[in-house]
Amino acid sequence: MKNNEIHNLLNKLSVKDKIYQLIQLSGQFYQQDDELVTGPQQKLGIAAEAIKNAGSVLNIRGAQELINLQKRNLENSEHAIPMLFMADIINGYETIFPIPLGLGATWNPGLVKEAAAVSAHEAAVSGMHITFSPMVDLVRDPRWGRVMESTGEDSFLNSVFAQAFVEGYQGDMNPDKNIVACVKHFAGYGAPEGGREYNTVDMSERTFREYYLPAYKAALDAGAKMMMTSFNTVDGIPATASEWLNRTILREEWGFNGVLISDYAAVKELKDHGVARDFKEAAKLALKAGVDIDMMTSVYANNLESLVAEDEELRLLLDEAVLRVLQLKNELGLFENPFRGADVEVENVVVFSDQNRELARKVAQESLVLLKNANGILPLGNTDAKIALIGPYADTTSLSGMWSFSSHQQETPTLKQAFFEAFSEENVLVSVGCPMIEADFLKDSFGSYHTAESTSFDEEQEFARAIDYANEADIIVMAVGEHHLQSGEGGSRAQLTLPEIQKTFIKAVKALNKPIIGVVFSGRPLDLRDEFQQFDALIEAWYPGTEGAGAIVDILTGKANPSGRLSMTFPYEVGQVPIHYNEFSTGRPLADSSHSKRFTSRYIDAPNKPLFPFGYGLSYTHFEYSNLKLSQKQMSEKSGITVSVTVKNSGNYIGKETVQLYLRDLVGSVVRPVKELKAFQQIVLIPGESQTVVFEITEEMLRFHRADMKYASEPGEFHVMIGRNSEDLQKAEFTLTAEAGVLIEP
Ligand code: GLC
Repeated sequence: MKNNEIHNLLNKLSVKDKIYQLIQLSGQFYQQDDELVTGPQQKLGIAAEAIKNAGSVLNIRGAQELINLQKRNLENSEHAIPMLFMADIINGYETIFPIPLGLGATWNPGLVKEAAAVSAHEAAVSGMHITFSPMVDLVRDPRWGRVMESTGEDSFLNSVFAQAFVEGYQGDMNPDKNIVACVKHFAGYGAPEGGREYNTVDMSERTFREYYLPAYKAALDAGAKMMMTSFNTVDGIPATASEWLNRTILREEWGFNGVLISDYAAVKELKDHGVARDFKEAAKLALKAGVDIDMMTSVYANNLESLVAEDEELRLLLDEAVLRVLQLKNELGLFENPFRGADVEVENVVVFSDQNRELARKVAQESLVLLKNANGILPLGNTDAKIALIGPYADTTSLSGMWSFSSHQQETPTLKQAFFEAFSEENVLVSVGCPMIEADFLKDSFGSYHTAESTSFDEEQEFARAIDYANEADIIVMAVGEHHLQSGEGGSRAQLTLPEIQKTFIKAVKALNKPIIGVVFSGRPLDLRDEFQQFDALIEAWYPGTEGAGAIVDILTGKANPSGRLSMTFPYEVGQVPIHYNEFSTGRPLADSSHSKRFTSRYIDAPNKPLFPFGYGLSYTHFEYSNLKLSQKQMSEKSGITVSVTVKNSGNYIGKETVQLYLRDLVGSVVRPVKELKAFQQIVLIPGESQTVVFEITEEMLRFHRADMKYASEPGEFHVMIGRNSEDLQKAEFTLTAEAGVLIEP
């Protein structure tokens, strides 16, 4: 439709018709048999008319289902306005990729863009229009269960991935291949106090703008057409009611004119937050704050009509919101073709195809992080030794994390199957050894969400069998980890250790005094102090997705050389949290303070250093860094500095290295981090090969929110550091001369 036709349509709509466009309900309201609808309908307190005419639906999947629903909607809808179909396609649609924290560990935005494009393709031919992804919340606290959905703790790296996701999903908006990206959760949801889900977020505006906001902006700069509000408060106001966030920053400063949807029930929760005395006030606050769609409550449906009748300003805001929703439907081409890319035959060919699964295996390979490899125990090669594959993750299809809803879940190859394929079956002894997690924990903690696997085995027998296998084998591989519902939404933990039942099992195997290769599955950085001591080799596998088992075997055999690097710090223990690499020096740095050690910034019962730092990961080969050089020692706005370093593969395997560049601003009008990631390059070197890696340092890289809150650089001394992770770095110095920086007004 042309834009003026959209405006004409808007003017034809009654107030009720307009309000319906701002309602989003879940699939449960649109089943065939009516009593199901009555149940949720009564619970939500929403009229049947509103259900019938809702402008969008979330989490219905499948081309045929969505074609049927759209047909029913158009038949019922007086103005033949097509519905929007949205879903959580977080790390894949049917072919599941590693969880985003694993995608972040690839440090490969090009590959992640390919994975997003495959997810979009599978979704588009299945009739989907919009994904609630990418989640770009910056995270520094692994107690929070949703760190698994983030690409990590660094705003620069998160911004690079935000762009990759959006470009992968949206492409050139081809109806048969692309879907709209809905960025979330705006904003700051990743910093809940205590790491406790939905808890208060409170920080300075400087911290907020410097670290937490950039990735949302990067996603919008990449063209994302939709944004979702977050559950948390920002500066004492829930994001869903925050005019500062959603109008001042999002629409005025950033110029975003796309659709803003609330998170699930967040409009209704304004009453629980205590900023609305009733739902009518909640509706008013959300509409004034610029929330266009009310996800899964009846607050807009039951209150906007009376509100706009009383208040002309609200009536105008209603029109503004409805216009954005109609424009989004128009951008998707739904008025011309309400079924867009939905095609049952094509869906059967594209979805979960071998080609897509091959990409999933490659992405999973690059997401795995080798954290220890004592005495080069890995890779195993194509050994014919006797292998004991033991642990709760040895034989499960549950390798995709909490936000995967693939109907092909049961076709996920297990580690057992992948081992049988890679090594001869008679040489592989498999036993889960112990349950994933204590039974009462399952019952208490997960309720009906994702029915957790029941342990249908005799625990004593299985434990003994696993110990026997470990005794008999030449090689022991332990596949352990959190239950996948110990992370994700509602998965905050006060501890970061493996389930106790598994730690007991590991101790028993360790008592055999044989080398152990550990593969850990988790949705977060865990406290792996014990396992780091107990295992001779240690791989962090995250939840690696549909082809994760095969990818793990590719790494264990050496078919693929591990290249993953942590995008989130692994703490030494939970007491250090929140912990992140780009910390401030403090006035009493442990390293070089004039005070006695007791009176420096430290713990008396734990180190300051994490167990594994940001950017860390090992390879089967070794990369040597030398010859760090700067093109000049001074830079100004006009002329940047070229910095180069030589990297040599001094080992015996071809390998990929992520060369990381960090900067430090030694003196600023506000304290500046001891280092900040500003660039990285991935190179592949064969044994003996060297390459000179060149970076440009620009004045833009030196900008920050200064004391006057202006985003600009300041003249002075800087360190440039290059290396294989955020700690193992070579350093050089340079100066930004006065004319480049915007001088502080005297
Ligand atoms: C959830 C999540 C959000 C998700 C939405 C729809 O509560 O917070 O990330 O996209 O509801 O499922």
